[in-house]
Amino acid sequence: MAIKNQSFSTILVCLLLYFFTTLSSAQSDFEISGGYWVILQPSIGISAMHMQVLYNDKVIVFDRTDSGPSNLTLLDNQCRQNDDVLHLDCTAHSVLYDIASNTFRPLMVQTDTWCSSGSVDSDGTLVQTGGYHGGERVIRTFTPCQDNSCDWVELTKYLWDRRWYASNQILPDNRIIVVGGRKAFSYEFFPKNESLPSSYYLRFLIETRDPGEENNLYPFLHLLPNGNLFIFANRRSILFDYVKNKIVKRFPVIPGEDKRNYPSTGSSVLLPLRLTRENGGDNVSVTTEAEVMVCGGAPAGAFIKAEKEQVYVKASTSCGRIKVTDPKPVWSMEYMPMPRVMTDMLLLPSGDVILINGAANGTAGWEDAVNPNLNPVLYLPEEEPTRRFVIMKPSTIPRMYHSTAALLPDGRILVGGSNPHRRYNFTAYPYPTELSLEAFHPPYLAPQKAHLRPSILSVELMDRTVSYKQVFSVTFVLALFRPSGTISVTLILPSFTTHSFAMNQRMVVLDVINVAQLSTFAYKVLVNGPTNARVAPPGFYMMFVVHAGSPSHAVWLKVM
Ligand SMILES: *[C@@H]1O[C@H](CO)[C@@H](O)[C@H](O)[C@H]1NC(C)=O
Ligand SMILES: *[C@@H]1O[C@H](CO)[C@@H](O)[C@H](O)[C@H]1NC(C)=O
Ligand SMILES: *[C@@H]1O[C@H](CO)[C@@H](O)[C@H](O)[C@H]1NC(C)=O
Ligand SMILES: *[C@@H]1O[C@H](CO)[C@@H](O)[C@H](O)[C@H]1NC(C)=O
Ligand SMILES: *[C@@H]1O[C@H](CO)[C@@H](O)[C@H](O)[C@H]1NC(C)=O
Repeated sequence: MAIKNQSFSTILVCLLLYFFTTLSSAQSDFEISGGYWVILQPSIGISAMHMQVLYNDKVIVFDRTDSGPSNLTLLDNQCRQNDDVLHLDCTAHSVLYDIASNTFRPLMVQTDTWCSSGSVDSDGTLVQTGGYHGGERVIRTFTPCQDNSCDWVELTKYLWDRRWYASNQILPDNRIIVVGGRKAFSYEFFPKNESLPSSYYLRFLIETRDPGEENNLYPFLHLLPNGNLFIFANRRSILFDYVKNKIVKRFPVIPGEDKRNYPSTGSSVLLPLRLTRENGGDNVSVTTEAEVMVCGGAPAGAFIKAEKEQVYVKASTSCGRIKVTDPKPVWSMEYMPMPRVMTDMLLLPSGDVILINGAANGTAGWEDAVNPNLNPVLYLPEEEPTRRFVIMKPSTIPRMYHSTAALLPDGRILVGGSNPHRRYNFTAYPYPTELSLEAFHPPYLAPQKAHLRPSILSVELMDRTVSYKQVFSVTFVLALFRPSGTISVTLILPSFTTHSFAMNQRMVVLDVINVAQLSTFAYKVLVNGPTNARVAPPGFYMMFVVHAGSPSHAVWLKVM
């Protein structure tokens, strides 16, 4: 990083700011003080079970269609035949939320989306897969539009197998792989190859199934930079070549007895992929390491105990990290400050992980958990082991089964949903069907840190589209005379989040070639674009400039 134009006075300002920021960050390690919460909407009329941020700064939110009437009426006297509960249902089960105006409008979904999965394709269209009963083999697409004209489009009987509790991953060739689901020990692709007779059998999905409890639904999927798929279910994981339908490697079983997948719902993230230039190499930046982190879950038998005896056992407190690209990978275990099940794990533009929502006792399932986790926990992957977990300020709203969370382009975490009941029940005590939306502001959005936040002025790219290996620059301003910490440029692919798993979530930290100061407050950072489609599958990413851990508002970049 080469900064020109230094002077004595700027160094002085920098030193003062340095002391100010170190003091404030040292405090947060010892107090439950980080972050804050804001209620955005007391009710959006539906319970946010599934969420996806779209590149036009809207968030598609949906629930299930078979839990009775929601608290939001469909527009234009629309109604639908409900396949399970109501003869005629004129209420909405999906909304489109507009981030900037904090408003929402109802959408029309025809078939049941309960416990389904999704991915956004390279053009920004959400491809949602499966659900329940009449919806279990349906594909629904949603293409963002500038006005209010867009709505769901449904392709019935598209999928080979029922996909209820399946997981998806976008692939380098822009296909989407759909893996597993209840009684579906197989995977398949969208778009489908019409000349093939069926889906592909995957024995691993039956091997990891616990009798009577499952504990392997919504398997964790991560596309690795080597092009293989990491699949984790229950306590086991594999490196899978989906082209050859072949298991390349079996990873060690995660230590401890805790189960990690639905209904013993833990979560998993692919930690940030950091691109660097190889020594003596050309300008192409590569990544040589990929690391996965799995947190939370529940011990064996927890689901049955909750269902049959109303006994809610303590959730898992452990997390495991594994460098999946090592020749001999091993799990390294760490312990959260409290037990957590049904916790969402989201990557922040700073490179940290936020653990949010969930419960300390019980499992996923109806009426199966108590003791909500109101405090998020920030995890700092690069810190010393004893200083990695930082407890954040609590929300007042329990977010347990069927709640969700998503990172917004402004760095906030959108949080919604929670409905541990078979139907919508707005009066249930103590955990009513939750219709509110709130935002968690991570510590980098604290007013005292506002001076650290960069603002992007321009991106020197045609149509904000970057091709692989393309070098480009970003101009930004800082309200400081001199940067007080590292400048990085990060790309985040927004996730499809449901049941505590953020599908497709990935973060690529670009290789910075240099940073040049243009004027008192303006800087230009030159970066290497992502290496290839295995590192960053094609699509719309949120690009953040991060200064001393504080991210700018994102700009959407199309990677292709
Ligand atoms: C349902 O919606 C009405 C307004 O349409 C609102 O007054 C009420 O509080 C909502 N109920 C819940 C439980 O959010
Ligand atoms: C579809 O599958 C057939 C049979 O395996 C294969 O020959 C063909 O290339 C595939 N088509 C596409 C578009 O992948
Ligand atoms: C690397 O990129 C920089 C900036 O675009 C350029 O000046 C330099 O010549 C490139 N070096 C090589 C070896 O391609
Ligand atoms: C939660 O689990 C802890 C530890 O097993 C137990 O002591 C506590 O009673 C449980 N809480 C509830 C409300 O069941
Ligand atoms: C809502 O939950 C309460 C228990 O908290 C129960 O008494 C009531 O019958 C439920 N209502 C519906 C409509 O299921």
